[in-house]
Amino acid sequence: MAILPIYLFGSSVLRKKAKPVDQLDNALIKLVYDMTETMHKAHGIGLAANQVGELRQVIVVDMTAVEESEREEGNDHEESSVKVKERKTLVLINPEILSKGGTFTMEEGCLSIPEVRADVTRPESIRLKFKDVNFNEVELETGGLLARVLQHEVDHLKGILFIDYLSKLKRASLKSTLRAIEKGEVDASYPIVVGAEA
Ligand code: NI
Repeated sequence: MAILPIYLFGSSVLRKKAKPVDQLDNALIKLVYDMTETMHKAHGIGLAANQVGELRQVIVVDMTAVEESEREEGNDHEESSVKVKERKTLVLINPEILSKGGTFTMEEGCLSIPEVRADVTRPESIRLKFKDVNFNEVELETGGLLARVLQHEVDHLKGILFIDYLSKLKRASLKSTLRAIEKGEVDASYPIVVGAEA
């Protein structure tokens, strides 16, 4: 497994649409494991392939982190997860959100936009389908933090970032920070790629 550098805000790959995966091959399995390792290294709760420069519809979510946050709610996501270094990872290939319900505001951040956090309002619960790491079709209905993370990551695959949802005012207040990120003037604890034109 390898730690991949994470593309920062300003890199064009973050604004492109990822393509559906049509088959499970060794390259895809390697990507899933590398993304998982990279997510752990960066202490992220989720990571989309665009963020490591790959335009394929692949997402990994650190279910150990999700469950640590959700423990009191008694949610369980045992199926379709793999364990890497004793942390459970939910792998989603070709995810598609089928329906959404409610609204909920929660603070978000993104490994591609270090040091920026902001409240984002999104649907509270979602139903989605995807292929798991064995390329089996899975349908999942979920709410709370997992629904939040999944919507953020599915957006990445469409070239959408959480800052796109912010008010003009909030966006203006982040302007200099975002410009600094585009120039790579950030302290990240993980390898990064700055302003890449893919
Ligand atoms: Ni993100």
